[in-house]
Amino acid sequence: MTDKRNLVTITTIYQIMNTGANIIHKDPKKFVKKPNLSDYEKTYKEFTWKKAEKEYLDFFEDGTLNASYIAIDRHAIGKSASKNALLFESATGEKETYTYGQLKDLTNKFANVLDLHGVQKGDRVFIFLPTIPERLVVFFGILKLGAIAGTLFSAFMEMALMDRLLDSGAKVVVTNATLFPRIQKIWKDLPALEKVIIVERGSVDQPKGENLIYYKHEMEKASADFAIAHMQKEDLSYMLYTSGTTGKPKGVVHAHGDIVQAMVTTKFVLDVHEDDIYWCTADLGWVTGVVYGALGPFGLGATSVIFEGRFSPENWYKVLQDYQVTVWYTAPTAIRMLMGSPVSPKEYNLSNLRFLASVGEPLNPEAIWWGLEAFGLPFHDTWWQTEQGSITVTNYSVMDVRPGSMGKPLPGVIAAVIDEDGKEVPVGEEGHLALKPETIYSLMKQIWGNKEKFDSYFRNGWYLSGDKAFKDKDGYFWFVGRADDVIKTSGERVGPFEVESALVEHEDVIEAGVIGKPDELRGEIIKAFVVVKPGVEKNEETKKRIMAYVKQHLAGHAYPREIEFIDKLPKTRSGKIMRRLLKSRELGLPEGDTSTLEDY
Ligand code: WT7
Repeated sequence: MTDKRNLVTITTIYQIMNTGANIIHKDPKKFVKKPNLSDYEKTYKEFTWKKAEKEYLDFFEDGTLNASYIAIDRHAIGKSASKNALLFESATGEKETYTYGQLKDLTNKFANVLDLHGVQKGDRVFIFLPTIPERLVVFFGILKLGAIAGTLFSAFMEMALMDRLLDSGAKVVVTNATLFPRIQKIWKDLPALEKVIIVERGSVDQPKGENLIYYKHEMEKASADFAIAHMQKEDLSYMLYTSGTTGKPKGVVHAHGDIVQAMVTTKFVLDVHEDDIYWCTADLGWVTGVVYGALGPFGLGATSVIFEGRFSPENWYKVLQDYQVTVWYTAPTAIRMLMGSPVSPKEYNLSNLRFLASVGEPLNPEAIWWGLEAFGLPFHDTWWQTEQGSITVTNYSVMDVRPGSMGKPLPGVIAAVIDEDGKEVPVGEEGHLALKPETIYSLMKQIWGNKEKFDSYFRNGWYLSGDKAFKDKDGYFWFVGRADDVIKTSGERVGPFEVESALVEHEDVIEAGVIGKPDELRGEIIKAFVVVKPGVEKNEETKKRIMAYVKQHLAGHAYPREIEFIDKLPKTRSGKIMRRLLKSRELGLPEGDTSTLEDY
């Protein structure tokens, strides 16, 4: 761990005091830029979503709106039309820039392509692409037409794709030559999937076949004029599948109006100013990529960097340096990987950086101390969920940082730590982290086709996050852990049921129970307890075969890095796997109440 005392000499802006709780005190007068949120308490008191709507939503004359108009078209008028919206670097180092004016034309063209091929308002169009500019053109083009954009992580394999495309009834998938074979394998079982659009970039040979459409070919023919769909703020805009404890992943659906909170938070929390160069490292396949890689920064008319290449300390430091990034939003596992690397950020010129933030999993204090030494800046932990659609509890540029704390509620948001009956627990006591649903402007509008699941989030007038936390006497929230079995590995949410389902598809496996096992680098890793068929060798070879199977069929990131053979899984009398028991046994913790355990 870094020696905190040495840090005092590094910067005069962030003074570290040994007050027991180790607070990073700030002096905003010495900041390079005045923070967009300059007085948290005052803004928290005065802020209302009604006022924010007036400020951030651009309505058409008939009182309707479109998130793509807010994010793209209105910046394509006048001076900002020639402003760079997107700076792209490909995996092989090619660079491209796109202005707001160019993006307006491209997104109009793509909306016309969809229209021509029969896509209508409310249809689901899924995006299965790497981090290339077309991914954003397609996303905003879908919204322009009033269809619903579904985003997919490019590491998904056919089982994960099948669950999402079948449940959503996707009509069109936009992909490329490399990823298409995974769709091809399952297309026959997707009755609603009519057409696949192939983006040519990156491949010389394009797949051929019935109902395949070629992006560049269509775009060349398409008109750059499009009559953008007039939507209500609660009309659906994008959807993302996310994992819970039970069952298959659920489709969380958001609306056009949600862009308000995306913009408010990009401004107040990530502190993005007009002349910033902003880099959100999250993939568009996850909610952070959609909200903070697309809606928020474009909504504010900012300039964003996107990088197709793989993560490595050299690659990332080089992007930060070459693009003179000023605001950087990333994730704890990446920070810890940088921290553990022999490559030092000091070998690069990162002097333009002025604000750092992190999301997705607990940000351990060591990572913050390291950041302060490495960049002269603290990482600001932010907390939210796919379902919430934007940051809700967070640290701010202007506010002192208490390393290990997620900070305070966003202006407009009411958050609390409550007990089982919905009553607030005393300061310092652990409970359920809950929010007043009417105060989360960008809260999901539905769980696709599953009202029961949607309703299960709400109890006693609260939205229940499924996380446990406590609040200190000064109103800072501290994350304790999940209240359920959901696994967070490298910041990605994985449902144990999804992994168990993939495991039992393997020919050697009878049953499987899956847990998250604490890991210093990844937060948690996936561990599977597996019952194999009689005669199957319980050795390393078998483990490797099973791991590879999950990796190749479910997703590259969702396979168990550890497998343990077990003779029998602990189950309740009604047959439910007791993952909690597997976990406490794994960690050597007390087993708790096992009265529902079937005879063993
Ligand atoms: C879950 C939500 C938030 C967008 C990306 C992930 C965990 C998220 C933090 C944080 C501790 C965090 C929670 C939450 N989580 N941010 N700052 N500190 N835990 O969204 O995939 O919907 O996951 O991620 O457990 O419930 P998600």
